[in-house]
Amino acid sequence: MKPDLDAFWMPFTASRHFKKAPRMLVKASGMYYWDDKGRQILDGVAGLWCVNAGHNRPKVVAAIQAQAAEMDFAPPFQMAHPLAFELADKVAKLAPAGMNKVFFTNSGSESVETALKMAIAYHRARGEGQRTRLIGRERGYHGVNFGGISVGGISGNRKMFGSLLTGVDHIRHTHDLARNAYSQGQPEHGAEFADELERVIALHDASTIAAVIVEPIAGSTGVLIPPKGYLNRLREICDKHGILLIFDEVITGFGRTGTPFAATTFGVTPDLMTLAKGLTGGSVPMGAVLAKQAIHDVFMTGPEHLIEFAHGYTYSSHPLACAAGLATLETYADEGLLTRAAQLQSYFGEALHSLKGLPNVIDIRNFGLVGGVELTPLAGEPTKRALGVFLDCWDKGVMLRYTGDILAVSPPLIIEREQIDRIVDTLRGAIQRAA
Ligand SMILES: Cc1ncc(COP(=O)(O)O)c(C=O)c1O
Repeated sequence: MKPDLDAFWMPFTASRHFKKAPRMLVKASGMYYWDDKGRQILDGVAGLWCVNAGHNRPKVVAAIQAQAAEMDFAPPFQMAHPLAFELADKVAKLAPAGMNKVFFTNSGSESVETALKMAIAYHRARGEGQRTRLIGRERGYHGVNFGGISVGGISGNRKMFGSLLTGVDHIRHTHDLARNAYSQGQPEHGAEFADELERVIALHDASTIAAVIVEPIAGSTGVLIPPKGYLNRLREICDKHGILLIFDEVITGFGRTGTPFAATTFGVTPDLMTLAKGLTGGSVPMGAVLAKQAIHDVFMTGPEHLIEFAHGYTYSSHPLACAAGLATLETYADEGLLTRAAQLQSYFGEALHSLKGLPNVIDIRNFGLVGGVELTPLAGEPTKRALGVFLDCWDKGVMLRYTGDILAVSPPLIIEREQIDRIVDTLRGAIQRAA
């Protein structure tokens, strides 16, 4: 029976356009979806950057089924269940040294809100309560809650929603087509973009700033890879001024860059790290914030019977999510998936860069198993050319994502070389037809 499409107010969707020609997914396994017409669709974006181990993996399915039968829910405030501790321990063991405290949430957006609140509360707890300012970056995406859109740098996500958080500023983005187009891996130019942080600090005074938040690789605004030396410089400037550095690893976490986290890949350790998506491979909603021990310990003062951090969600560390997370981490370990992107990176990069020279292609960039292909916008109709390419690929049985006029590729980490070829060949045909 076909559902009535009227009632569902769809998230981040051109819904009137969609409802005229719905793209309805009904089944998934491994690298593939099936739609309601029975077509098999190759998943080129890991669902929504999250299905890192592939779809419906047996251990994950079994763990969720078993947990649902055993215990549906346990309150996370003043109570707990063992899987939450087990999962926190496993996540901490994957993290850069010293980032060993894990706070569970249900999404990337909630992880971002949690990290921003942790940063402000941390400074207050150590007697610097005037440090409340937050610094984000243009073209940053940090989810859709008020903190996240305030530090985020996408005007389309901000302009509808009033004055947002006060005390927020932004540094410039790192995209530099003139100098870095067609870079493979980290671009050569642009470490100096980090110096803009010094300008913003001078304007507000360091003593008012709590934290800087950036995505190590900006995913949602078109796969912007950090220039060589850029993240190190951000780290140095934050250290110099006593400002916390938050990495939003909601997309880059869990193997996307060739190690468990981009912090490890790029050799820069933040103070707080936001996670979601790959934590459960998208199977059950879950997010987390990783914090350095030293940050956590600042909260652990005062009478022991009092709550130290007044924050949390009814579904923080939900039993189904914990079971799914543990089975997902086990699947990553069994199959070496958290380092597989490093092995496939050059094949994937070469394949994507073979699209250079096609009509309207103005940049191709890649790192690990994430890539972006940027097109010249149609005159006066931004995003329409990329939408056309996206729809064409969908018709040919390959699911990608577009953002602005950039096509993004970020497949499950189980992808094989022939499947990379199929994605790139499909994209090639679609770009040619869109000319
Ligand atoms: C870097 C980053 N942060 C936060 C989020 C928000 O995550 P969610 O949609 O789970 O709230 C996303 C989602 O794509 C993201 O890419």
